[in-house]
Amino acid sequence: MAVETKKKMNVPITKPTLGEEEAQAPLESIRTGWVTQGPKVAQFEKDVAAYVGAKHGVATSSCTTGLHLALHAIGIGPGDEVIVPSLTFIASANAVLYTGADVVFCEVDRRTFNIEPADVERRITKRTKAIMPVDQIGLACDIDAINVIAKRRGLDVVEDAAPAIGATYKGAKVGSGAHQVVFSFHPRKVITTGEGGMITTDDDDLAARLRTLRQHGMSVSDVARHQADKVIIEDYPEIGFNYRLNDIQASIGIVQIRRLDELLAARRERAERYNRELPTVRGIEIPYVPPYAEHTYQSYMLTLTKDCPLEREELMTRMLRRGIATRRGIMASHLEKTYTTRYGKVSLPVTEEAARTTMLIPLYATMTEDEQTYVIEALREELGPA
Ligand SMILES: Cc1ncc(COP(=O)(O)O)c(C=O)c1O
Repeated sequence: MAVETKKKMNVPITKPTLGEEEAQAPLESIRTGWVTQGPKVAQFEKDVAAYVGAKHGVATSSCTTGLHLALHAIGIGPGDEVIVPSLTFIASANAVLYTGADVVFCEVDRRTFNIEPADVERRITKRTKAIMPVDQIGLACDIDAINVIAKRRGLDVVEDAAPAIGATYKGAKVGSGAHQVVFSFHPRKVITTGEGGMITTDDDDLAARLRTLRQHGMSVSDVARHQADKVIIEDYPEIGFNYRLNDIQASIGIVQIRRLDELLAARRERAERYNRELPTVRGIEIPYVPPYAEHTYQSYMLTLTKDCPLEREELMTRMLRRGIATRRGIMASHLEKTYTTRYGKVSLPVTEEAARTTMLIPLYATMTEDEQTYVIEALREELGPA
């Protein structure tokens, strides 16, 4: 008697959604020779700013360089402290160290895994200059609560919205809720330019300063000089950086931002299927989304409960054997050597537990119904019914 064997599938953790239009988009830049920061970057900045409802967009080479630029531009430096959740990709905290300031790690909320405003308040000292909340894996943090604290205590806010383009907070798009908001266009994000970042702000003077600082502190942009009908000799009043995005990347970004709502809808549809079907599997909890937010689902993160029959690494190994990629959930930055050698042992129990018990499973806009069924069935077979 023939035994029916289930076909093994390979399901990646994520995939960028790039099509023929994105492939064609850089042609114009290549043909015209505008291959560094030029008109396409300017257009992409306008498009992103308009999408998120901010006055300005300032493109950078990545979110990490954008975070550094944002902190530098508001004068953060040696002797200052910036409060950052530890439960985030390490780049958030590293950007603070680049300025010479100190990182003060804070706790997250148990359910949203986003910054805990009451804990932020407790950690403010005379040296605190700014708060960096994070919209973790695409879920908006409670930015109003952070802004209230910042205003009362005279602090600045730089929101790390790396995974959150298209996320909403109280009905508005993430992007204009803080003094500066910084996005990532890395391929793990909802839309991508290969590498890339963007700072959005409503502050005219700050936007002008960011534009200068990202390009070596040069007093005139390449486009302005190129278009001028008289000779312009630029100057460099202060030290800047080369944090430019280029027009090849921006041409792809222009197509991607136009497709963003369609890509978000596809992700949300797949996330909702997980939300409906995974509660019948033992030992896992689906992500919590507070009523004020719409998630981008840059990643779909499960929490393994005490009832989970397998250790996380064992479950990840078994999934890998079935061809399914998983990743640990969000990391605890304060446990990494860079920070333990600098600050010694810092105790953040909620963060540490979250870092131990969370796990990402595959989700992307083009994930097929069969691929998703395969992932859900694999989890059910490994863990059993709830
Ligand atoms: C929360 C957070 N901040 C910063 C970054 C860094 O982004 P980039 O790779 O564009 O520098 C990431 C990227 O994964 C992130 O998730």
